[in-house]
Amino acid sequence: MARTLVLWALIMAAFLGKYDGLSLCNINQEGLVACKPAVTKPNPIDPSADCCQALNGANLTCLCSYRSSPFLPALGIDPDLCMALPAKCDLQTPANC
Ligand SMILES: *[C@@H]1O[C@H](CO)[C@@H](O)[C@H](O)[C@H]1NC(C)=O
Repeated sequence: MARTLVLWALIMAAFLGKYDGLSLCNINQEGLVACKPAVTKPNPIDPSADCCQALNGANLTCLCSYRSSPFLPALGIDPDLCMALPAKCDLQTPANC
């Protein structure tokens, strides 16, 4: 009985940890999912309204800092497409990006 509870606690911790790990520069998991088709090669689509809304609240400076990290490709995101995304949503891309 107690063991089951411990197991549940571990599963929940893993789940929450994963969820946290998937939120990126104030873009939550929902936003990432909405933007994914727009930043995935070889056939990116124009960002959806949901994606642009998520980007609107995002820290784009933070996003820029991921440009040359292996983190974005690890998520299946193409860095170049990702950096072009704010402009496609009529948002200002940070100058030093
Ligand atoms: C955005 O991210 C940058 C780099 O991670 C950080 O220095 C800055 O404080 C953040 N800005 C906001 C508004 O959270």
